[in-house]
Amino acid sequence: MKSLLVLPVLFAVALSSYNKEKELDWWETTIFYQIYPRSFKDSNGDGIGDINGITENLEYLKELGIGATWLSPIFKSPMYDFGYDIADFYAIQEEYGTIEDFENLMAKAKELDIKIVLDFVPNHTSNESVWFEEALRGHEKYFDYFIWEDGVVDENGVMHPPTNWVSALRKSAWEYREEVGKYYLHQFVIGQPDLNYRNPDVVEEMKNVIRFWLEKGVADDPDNYDYLNHIYTKDLDETIEMVFQWREVFDDFKEKDGLSRVMMTEAYTTPKMAMKYYGNRDRKGAQMPFNFALISDVNGDSSAAEIKYALDSFLTFKPIDEHANWVAGNHDVSRVASRFSPELVDGINMITLLMPGIGVTYMGEEIGMVDGYVSWEDTVDPGGCNTDDPINYWITSRDPQRTPFQWSADKNAGFSVGNKTWLPVAADFENLNVEVQRVTEKSHLNIYKALAALRNDKIFRYSRYESVAYNEGVFAFRRWYNKKAYIVVINFRQEAYTIDLTYFENVNKKVQVLISSIQSPKNSWEVLQADKVEILGSESLVLKVLF
Ligand SMILES: *[C@@H]1O[C@H](CO)[C@@H](O)[C@H](O)[C@H]1NC(C)=O
Ligand SMILES: *[C@@H]1O[C@H](CO)[C@@H](O)[C@H](O)[C@H]1NC(C)=O
Ligand SMILES: *[C@@H]1O[C@H](CO)[C@@H](O)[C@H](O)[C@H]1NC(C)=O
Repeated sequence: MKSLLVLPVLFAVALSSYNKEKELDWWETTIFYQIYPRSFKDSNGDGIGDINGITENLEYLKELGIGATWLSPIFKSPMYDFGYDIADFYAIQEEYGTIEDFENLMAKAKELDIKIVLDFVPNHTSNESVWFEEALRGHEKYFDYFIWEDGVVDENGVMHPPTNWVSALRKSAWEYREEVGKYYLHQFVIGQPDLNYRNPDVVEEMKNVIRFWLEKGVADDPDNYDYLNHIYTKDLDETIEMVFQWREVFDDFKEKDGLSRVMMTEAYTTPKMAMKYYGNRDRKGAQMPFNFALISDVNGDSSAAEIKYALDSFLTFKPIDEHANWVAGNHDVSRVASRFSPELVDGINMITLLMPGIGVTYMGEEIGMVDGYVSWEDTVDPGGCNTDDPINYWITSRDPQRTPFQWSADKNAGFSVGNKTWLPVAADFENLNVEVQRVTEKSHLNIYKALAALRNDKIFRYSRYESVAYNEGVFAFRRWYNKKAYIVVINFRQEAYTIDLTYFENVNKKVQVLISSIQSPKNSWEVLQADKVEILGSESLVLKVLF
């Protein structure tokens, strides 16, 4: 008798804890905007973006409705891999600015309430780091910071690398150094010797790096220890163990000042494996293991069903009390307008900003920038140069998605007053830029702002989610909470379809257009009959359900 009485009470408590409006932390509701500092804004005319350029334009992020930005690495580097080869984890690259410039950026960000996230690349250092140079000089402590092996001598007396491993950017993963008579391991370019995480000194040193920047007031500090395929990873459990330990460093800081820091991790892996980075009941990991479904699993050829499958898979594997995140672009992959199509830019932004979870935008995706053309002569990315192939280099080069940000129709798209920019500006900048889109009523930029504003509606924080692939082209999802509901419809094909939205529960009569993609002839506030909505080719809509 007693237990019968108790049970329903427990049940009610369990239910309500998932339905009630939990107080959410800043990072749980914001949009993260990735800035590639080298290409955002050049403040001194040298053709290279810099920290002051970011500081001067932080208000633009505010205008978009963005609350946090993560910066690709700004640390001292010889730039063989544009900052992902760090020479000094405690210093800023001169061409980007000084520590004072960084402190000014932090102050301005604080004033505007924009969080700054730094990109920490813990896997390797530059071959021109003090640590590596000391290692070559035979300094034992630093020698053990890296992974060394003897070469193999064949019957002709010729020395070969210890194994036939190939680095992620092609060519052998081993490089010989005469100074010590051994090969060192580099999973990326030759200029990026891998750090040896089996050495406790390395583990401690890297924690100190995190502490150093957290003390500078970086509210956040993600780690980014892998940005290409993880083919040769043998020690996944060890990697995840490091993530847990870094989270402990973050949490120590939170204990001191009550501020939460967010850790993002970047690993190109399956959704199921990505979940390991969240941690488990006993150990917390990253709050945001990047979800690469929209990058790796689908593109402009994908059917509505494939889109649904890719989006649902992260949600399916995700721990119930963690947040999903939606990433459609970054500095390593072709732009949305090029990978999907220019017509689908608004639709993809609807997905990244209105799906349940955290939104992430790579700079330029809000205006629909396309991959720039970079000739073989102008190519600087090792991903392109290492091919030694002036014809096919562009397939693996990451320069096209890194061309200067398009601010205006001015010289160099308003990116730089200099005579030469580090990468050429994309050809279409006179028409495709922030200034033009600001004053065009229906532009990618204005649609993005409307989506970012709509995202503040409670519905997108707390509501349920349901999706459907109607046919080859049309993918739709519904978000509903209490008595309100929105439906997002995206047509991934160029042909028109008529769909019946009464498929969704409680959608009976009419829906109202709130936001429509730029090529859509439908106006905001237009009311449509829910049971036969005509969706034109590549059209995307955010609809409000009328009751
Ligand atoms: C570092 O590696 C790059 C190749 O990525 C090479 O050009 C450069 O000479 C190396 N620097 C040193 C000091 O070994
Ligand atoms: C990064 O470092 C971890 C930990 O040592 C290692 O397991 C992983 O293979 C590395 N990944 C790459 C791509 O270098
Ligand atoms: C650009 O070139 C012009 C003409 O050669 C020169 O006068 C000017 O100083 C240069 N500007 C910069 C920023 O280098």
